[in-house]
Amino acid sequence: MSKKEKFSDAGRLRTVSIAGTGSYMPERIMTNAELETMVETSSEWIVTRTGIAERRLAGESETTSDMGAEAARRALADAGVSPEEVDLIVLATITPDLPFPNTACLVQDKIGAKNAACFSLEAACSGFVFAMETARQFVATGAAKTALVVAAEKMSSIIDWTDRETCVLFGDGAGACVLKAAEGDKGLVHAVLGSNGALAELLMVPGGGSRLPFSEEVLRERNHYLKMEGREVFKHAVKSMTAIAQQVCAEKGLTTKDVACIVPHQANIRIIEAIGQRLGEPKEKFFINLDRYGNTSGASVIVALDEAVRSGVIKRGDLVMLLVFGGGFTWGASLLEWSK
Ligand code: ACO
Repeated sequence: MSKKEKFSDAGRLRTVSIAGTGSYMPERIMTNAELETMVETSSEWIVTRTGIAERRLAGESETTSDMGAEAARRALADAGVSPEEVDLIVLATITPDLPFPNTACLVQDKIGAKNAACFSLEAACSGFVFAMETARQFVATGAAKTALVVAAEKMSSIIDWTDRETCVLFGDGAGACVLKAAEGDKGLVHAVLGSNGALAELLMVPGGGSRLPFSEEVLRERNHYLKMEGREVFKHAVKSMTAIAQQVCAEKGLTTKDVACIVPHQANIRIIEAIGQRLGEPKEKFFINLDRYGNTSGASVIVALDEAVRSGVIKRGDLVMLLVFGGGFTWGASLLEWSK
């Protein structure tokens, strides 16, 4: 092979596609009726204001990496890929097992992906799309051949179960997908990501980091739990997700009319309805499972994508949009042509 032929591939970006998906939801169901016994709320308020009827909770000793590892095993099985073939794991979470080492390494050990380089990233509820887009760059450039993208959350570990304004919203769970260079030209089409750190204070866990290290005072003030300005988050979520859905399409000469299914972050049914109205898209175009799982933060869109594919809602050839928003603030949209 001449030098020219050998390096003719250099610099060529490969199309990347999802070779398999998987998800894992813990068995324990917490209903709205159970929450009624814990805080001053009603199932009727929760359903009408959020659309959530129940959520799943991890077992006490079940960790984020336990859930992530099970979702990863299912995604690998779906893709027909062995753990040893994986050369990159990118994991998104805001509820890591430990401050460090990163949860991706813990998943690596649990699934036996001993040839993978592993790191975690944090983009709150936008985590999966940020992680997938990061892993895509590795596969597109040839820096990785088989990437595992995992998003896993044990939100129940950072929820203040005495705060009715947040505890009714969240749940635990995990999803994963395998990325490989596409055999054809179908796969991940385009993605746009955005952030605005000036609004960080609207959705955060104030204590336990370097700004306010863990202490008795942090514990007393309950600053180790998630705090949220719900109404403000709602407004920004609708605005940013609507704009980025339009942008990701426009940059490819498309509109949302070309998209067969939108898989949005599963935070609140009213956020999704408001986005649908602004985009002029019917509710049926949005895949929804928040009624059963609540908001699983970074895991929500990959769990929903996995269910949409397995239930036949998304079919081969469909143009699909993942649409996310979360703390940071962070937001993103990813267009993909389903090719499995
Ligand atoms: N049960 C009963 N009443 C409640 C509850 C509850 N669980 N929670 C709040 N209320 C009360 C409030 O105290 C308020 O009472 P008041 O009028 O006497 O003051 C009233 O209900 C209305 O409160 P609002 O905050 O105006 O209610 P809203 O309709 O905005 O719904 C909600 C609140 C559901 C939190 C909404 O704002 C929302 O979904 N925001 C976005 C949340 C979100 O998406 N977060 C995740 C982003 S992702 C991430 O990165 C983790």
